[in-house]
Amino acid sequence: MYTAFYGLREKPFSLTPDPRFLFLASSHREALAHLLYGIEQGEGFIAVTGEVGTGKTTLCRTLLERLGSDTDVAFIFNPTLTGDELLRAIMVELGMLTTGLSRAQLSAQLNEYLLDQKQRNRRVLLIVDEAQNLSSQTLEEIRLLSNLETSTSKLIQILLFGQPELDDKLESQELRQLRQRISVRWRLDTLSASETAAYVRHRLRIGAEGECDLFSDGALREVHRRSRGVPRLVNLLCDRSLLAGYAEEAREIGAEHVSEAAREILGMRRRKLLGKSLWRRGAAAVALLAGAAAGALAVQGWRSGEVSQAPPAVSAGPSASRAATGEAESPGDAG
Ligand SMILES: Nc1ncnc2c1ncn2[C@@H]1O[C@H](COP(=O)(O)OP(=O)(O)O)[C@@H](O)[C@H]1O
Ligand SMILES: [Mg+2]
Repeated sequence: MYTAFYGLREKPFSLTPDPRFLFLASSHREALAHLLYGIEQGEGFIAVTGEVGTGKTTLCRTLLERLGSDTDVAFIFNPTLTGDELLRAIMVELGMLTTGLSRAQLSAQLNEYLLDQKQRNRRVLLIVDEAQNLSSQTLEEIRLLSNLETSTSKLIQILLFGQPELDDKLESQELRQLRQRISVRWRLDTLSASETAAYVRHRLRIGAEGECDLFSDGALREVHRRSRGVPRLVNLLCDRSLLAGYAEEAREIGAEHVSEAAREILGMRRRKLLGKSLWRRGAAAVALLAGAAAGALAVQGWRSGEVSQAPPAVSAGPSASRAATGEAESPGDAG
C-alpha cells in the first residue's frame, strides 16, 4: 500500500467523518463558534446546511466531543422516521424505556425527564443529521418538542444539520412556524484554493504524524480545480493521487497524478454509477452522486479542458452561503 512508501502511519484521506482530522477552514470555524455559542446561550433551534461532503457530519461529531459533561444528547442520524418513531428514538437515546407506552405516556415521560434535567441544571440537546430527510410531519413533531419550556428557558435545544434541501423545506409555507423558531442558521462553504491546500497538508500531517509535503503546488491547485473545494471530493481525489504516485514510485505527487486520479474516478463513476437521467440533471445530480457510497467524483468538471465551462460541483457562493441568524422570532407565532 502507498502508506508505507510515503511514510504515512495511516491513510490520510479516509471518507469517515473523523474529528481527529478536523481542519477548521473559516466557514467551519465560524459554524462551530456559532453552534457552541448558540448552545451556551440556550437557543432553542439551530440549523446548519451545506452541500454533500462539505463537512456537516464531521462538524456534528466535533461538536459532540466538545460538549460539557453537563449535557445529554439525543443524536439522530437516520431521520426517515415517523413522528412517533422519532419520539421513541429520542427517548431511547436519552436512556428511557419506551416499550408498551402510548403516545400520551411517551410525551408525559419525556416532559418529566426534561423538567428533571432542568432542575439538575443539565442541558439536553437533540441533534439531527441528514435533517433534509425529515418529513414535514416529523419536522412538525420537532417543532412541538421545541414548545417544551419553563417560563424562562427551553427544556430541549434542537440542532438540525442537513443538505440545502433542508433550507428549501424550511422556506415552505407549511413550516413557517418552525422556521420562525430558528434563531441561528448557518450555511457551510466549500474551501477556497488556499484552504484546500492547507486542508490537504493538514490531513497529510496527521496521517504522517509530522511534516509531510507530498503534494506539489501544482498538484494542490489541480486538486482544488477538480474538487471545487468540496472536502469529500478532495479526499477521494488525494487518496487516488497517492495511489497513482505510488504506482510510479514518484516521491512527490504532481498535477499529472491528480489528473490521472480524476480520470480514473470518472471512469469508475461511468461504469458504476452514472444513470443516464442523472447525466442530464447537471449540477444537482453531480452533488448527489458525489455523496454516493462508492464515492465518485463530480461529473462534467472532471473531464480535462471542460472544467471552466462546467457548472460548479457545489454552488455555494459566499453571499448565498452565509445565512447566519435566521429571521427574527415572531412572538405572535409561538404555537
Ligand atoms: N473541516 C473538515 N476537516 C477535516 N475533514 C473534513 C472536514 N470537512 C469534511 N471533511 C472530510 O470530508 C469528508 C466528508 O465530510 P462529511 O462530514 O461526511 O460531509 P457531509 O456530512 O457534509 O456530507 C469526510 O471524509 C470528512 O472527514
Ligand atoms: Mg453527513
